[in-house]
Amino acid sequence: MRERMTERSELAAEVTHQGGRYQVLVGWGLLDDLGRRVADEGLKGPAYIVSDDRVFSPYGRLAQRSLEKAGIPTHCFIIPAGESSKTLEVAQGIYQWLVEMRAERRHPIVAVGGGVVGDLAGFVAATFLRGMPFVQVPTSMAAMVDASIGGKVAVDLPQGKNLVGSFYQPRLVLADVAALATLGKRELAEGWAEAIKHGLILDADLFAVFEEHAEDLMDLEPELSTDVIRRSVAIKARVVSEDEKETLGRRILLNYGHTIGHAIEAATGYGRYLHGEGVSVGMTGASIIGRELGLTDQGLVDRQRRVLERFGLPTGARDVEPDDLFRAMLLDKKTESGSIRWVMLEDVGRAVVTRDVPGELVERTVRGLLGP
Ligand SMILES: NC(=O)c1ccc[n+]([C@@H]2O[C@H](COP(=O)([O-])OP(=O)(O)OC[C@H]3O[C@@H](n4cnc5c(N)ncnc54)[C@H](O)[C@@H]3O)[C@@H](O)[C@H]2O)c1
Repeated sequence: MRERMTERSELAAEVTHQGGRYQVLVGWGLLDDLGRRVADEGLKGPAYIVSDDRVFSPYGRLAQRSLEKAGIPTHCFIIPAGESSKTLEVAQGIYQWLVEMRAERRHPIVAVGGGVVGDLAGFVAATFLRGMPFVQVPTSMAAMVDASIGGKVAVDLPQGKNLVGSFYQPRLVLADVAALATLGKRELAEGWAEAIKHGLILDADLFAVFEEHAEDLMDLEPELSTDVIRRSVAIKARVVSEDEKETLGRRILLNYGHTIGHAIEAATGYGRYLHGEGVSVGMTGASIIGRELGLTDQGLVDRQRRVLERFGLPTGARDVEPDDLFRAMLLDKKTESGSIRWVMLEDVGRAVVTRDVPGELVERTVRGLLGP
């Protein structure tokens, strides 16, 4: 089902940054409108579409058709799907293509895909000719509620993820929620994990919607899902507008569940746990640590766990070796001067940051979540 839902406001949020502002549009069937929206931004073609080989058909093609209908010619570059494409080598291939196509500085790069395509195409847009206009068309849940907003663009190095990158803001983000219908249940759930996190840290009412409608959201009920994604997007947009370059301590709240979550992904070689699954275990761990510190009450620990379980998300990781995880935690680049900044919940919708978490408590909690 792709037909457009009756238009309520498709404007989910407006992000403000040093260099200006951009709109984040979220709607069911909105991809058909991409061309008009890009033209409204004053962008002229040709547009250089970057997509991956799982997403290009149908979404890259829909984007192409819509742009061309609006009088914007297009060229397409398709990368293999998956994190292994987020490299300098693949970026180099796109640079060469842009040179051959005689791309100019005013031509837009349009990323159609998940976070990998968005981060990579954004990195190319930020650097080719010292910066081309950039449009994000996120197609995965993770990219819609998280990666496409906030201007972080990057590629990976063999030594670690996202080690080379920049802050480079898009001119427009356009998310078509109908695209999520082709995601598997597992990918859908891991994307919802980030949106649940947004509710937990900053919006108690949004969290209540997840409690009330978990099954409808997993069925991707169009109106409800679109509304929840808009609200989640608005939270991310607000936080990144307040703290564009992660210098003011506000953006760190988005890392709730990520200290343990990242370490689970790294300790298992990225692949066994999807990002949102790691975050789900990580949020469970953070809530238990919060309880032991007297910050989070048991009722909240239980509520959070129940919601995560209803989305089929893990709240423990029995197949992960705790010592591997401790090692990965120490290497995480979010550690500052050797101490980890933990995001904890005082209540639903009220997150705080603390550095004062005893190592012994972390170890005890992690051993409770992990290992045989
Ligand atoms: N820039 C940021 O702020 C930020 C934030 C979070 C994550 N990220 C990055 O995002 C990446 C993870 O994002 P992701 O989970 O979207 O990964 P991804 O781009 O690899 O997408 C996951 C898989 O889903 C497929 N897919 C995407 N949309 C689909 C659709 N509508 N239907 C069917 N399949 C679809 C993709 O082809 C891919 O195989 C990581 O590289 C991470 O570092 C960046």
